[in-house]
Amino acid sequence: MTRQTLAPALALAAAVAFVVIAAVLTFMPFSGGRSPSAIGGPFDLIDQNKQPVTEKALLGSPSIVFFGFTHCPDVCPTALTEISALYKALGADGDRLKTFFITVDPERDTADLLKLYLESFDPRIKALTGPRENVDAAMRAYRAFARKVPLEGSESYVMDHTALVYLMDKDGYFLESMNFDLPPEQNAERIRKLF
Ligand code: NI
Repeated sequence: MTRQTLAPALALAAAVAFVVIAAVLTFMPFSGGRSPSAIGGPFDLIDQNKQPVTEKALLGSPSIVFFGFTHCPDVCPTALTEISALYKALGADGDRLKTFFITVDPERDTADLLKLYLESFDPRIKALTGPRENVDAAMRAYRAFARKVPLEGSESYVMDHTALVYLMDKDGYFLESMNFDLPPEQNAERIRKLF
């Protein structure tokens, strides 16, 4: 190979290498959510029917996970109403989407109360509770925050809490937070791509 043919050969090799690297980077699976600091992780709770539910329940289909409490005046019922609208938009496909509403107020939110509360929303939504330490562990896994705020002139309280609604992929990894400013049909299309 002469010097004159070597230069174009090197240029071609460089171009091929660039295309290969670009393709690898483009099609490499998103790995940001899989680091040890990511949102999500082990939990050990029970649902409104007192059946045990762990992080393994997230496997096999996309899931929505969020934290709240039944005495919540606005944020939680609004999110549950929006999730119910999403299920309606999904129709039968919604059977492949799981939703876990995890209480941050297990002292009041017993399985029985959660069951009663869920009657107002789509029946495919599950609510989870458990001993305080198990709820705290779930909150840590999801980097969720909650704080008891006493109500003035009353024995009662509300919980200040994380309002993010997490969308998890079918391997149980965090993808993004749900955007309920979008119409339910648009969110339904997004969910269908995750099946
Ligand atoms: Ni709330």
